[in-house]
Amino acid sequence: MRLQGQRVHSARSEAADGAPPSAGPAGPAGPREQLLTNDTAAAYRQVLAEGVERVADRIAGTRHPFTGITPARLAPQVAGIDLDRPLGDVTAALDELDTVYLRDAVYFHHPRYLAHLNCPVVIPALLGEAVLTAVNSSLDTWDQSAGGTLIEQRLIDWTAERIGLGPAADGIFTSGGTQSNLQAMLLAREEACLAAGAGAAERAALLPRLRILTSEAGHFSIRKAATLLGLSPEAVVPLATDDRRRMSPAALARELDRCRREDLPVMAVVATAGTTDFGTIDPLPEIARQCAEAGVWLHVDAAYGCGLLVSPTRRHLLAGIEQADSVTVDYHKSFFQPVSSSALLVRDRVVLRHATYHADYLNPARMVEQRIPNQVDKSLQTTRRFDALKLWLTLRIMGADGIGALFDEVVDRAAGAWELLEADPRFEVVTRSQLSTVVFRYLPEPGPARDLADEANLYAREALAASGAALVAGTRVDGRHYLKFTLLNPATTLDDVAQVRDLIVTHARQYLTERLDRRLQCQPA
Ligand SMILES: Cc1ncc(COP(=O)(O)O)c(C=O)c1O
Repeated sequence: MRLQGQRVHSARSEAADGAPPSAGPAGPAGPREQLLTNDTAAAYRQVLAEGVERVADRIAGTRHPFTGITPARLAPQVAGIDLDRPLGDVTAALDELDTVYLRDAVYFHHPRYLAHLNCPVVIPALLGEAVLTAVNSSLDTWDQSAGGTLIEQRLIDWTAERIGLGPAADGIFTSGGTQSNLQAMLLAREEACLAAGAGAAERAALLPRLRILTSEAGHFSIRKAATLLGLSPEAVVPLATDDRRRMSPAALARELDRCRREDLPVMAVVATAGTTDFGTIDPLPEIARQCAEAGVWLHVDAAYGCGLLVSPTRRHLLAGIEQADSVTVDYHKSFFQPVSSSALLVRDRVVLRHATYHADYLNPARMVEQRIPNQVDKSLQTTRRFDALKLWLTLRIMGADGIGALFDEVVDRAAGAWELLEADPRFEVVTRSQLSTVVFRYLPEPGPARDLADEANLYAREALAASGAALVAGTRVDGRHYLKFTLLNPATTLDDVAQVRDLIVTHARQYLTERLDRRLQCQPA
């Protein structure tokens, strides 16, 4: 499709006066024709339709989750494009995009994409994405978003209600779990400073002593947040987990006691509802009890486990989350939403004031008195996407139960995958997930091959990715290399899982055979 030289008239401007629109003389299209305005709506329709067509073809035609392309092969193609010489043509640009991106992208919708916490996305949310980028509301202030602000607020209220945070709850959409956790830690730090009565002078002495307790299976974004918030390198204390890789309440009690004795104020306990590797949920009621007793802020990182909020059968697994002071939810993990879509919820809306700053040009303080809802008053960001719209259309078109049913399906599938591997003597599986991961490793026969278990699993993962046939993740457990399935696609069948299992065996065995043969050849005759 050529857009240069092509003038596209909107129906509205034609109908208004019966004459061609006054966007300038006919001739080669200039930059003005690339702007979405009331005169270019028809071009917008055509261009987007062509783009959607390409992606739909790719999605429908994908036979493998990945082509296995290496950075070394792809980088020269990207580097070779002269960004100062535009193609001026949509079709040509899409052709080019196909070669540098679409053809070799990693496709999460493919049933044998089993690697990270990436979900296939629901179509109503894609509709939301298309609407929100075209209208381009910015959710910092009412005067840049109007209804968008109200829609986001309704979804925050809806989520807080699902969690059970109570009538004073509030929150804000964020770019992801990392940002939600960062903001939660910021609020907890400020509340800890207030509780200690620390004025500006005392803060410098207090900050290095503040501690955050989280399990050793908690997410690394908490450590990053601690650094960004100026805490000490020892601020995040990793707590031991039980045999199911959940925070040990005894370890928590011990650490709370130690911090009290050593005058190290605990600014937050971070419980994880859905650990990234093991998909396990910390014992929230017991952790909440200890936090209440110690007067410590409880943050629940439910970035992964939040899908249970809409699960028709497993909501009870989140019991205790309603006692949190703050909660992270990632709709872009278990609500089947496109990146990005996350939120931070708080029990008491008053604490969000720690993120409130006023600028005369944007959100002067008088607007608070005028009750003008400016979401920037609660956010770390200023200009902010209307990500909430994707969830809104998802709830309005397919409903929360539909999302919950999809999540239930993947949790069921992970249980099936765990059983499959557990029953297979060639594999060792780690703890059974409450969500949708399976951590396991190929276990070679005892003897010299067993000593190469780490290398064999690393090799199998890489070889699988290089073949493009399937993608699995890897992690370390107790110092050893393991593989991980993260199942977030209801289209993945147990047969897919079994096929990937067999491919892993083939690759691992090939590695072992080559290594052991080479050893034999090197031995003196
Ligand atoms: C438990 C947990 N918390 C936080 C995060 C960070 O979320 P995001 O990648 O959206 O920043 C993740 C990501 O995997 C996670 O698993």
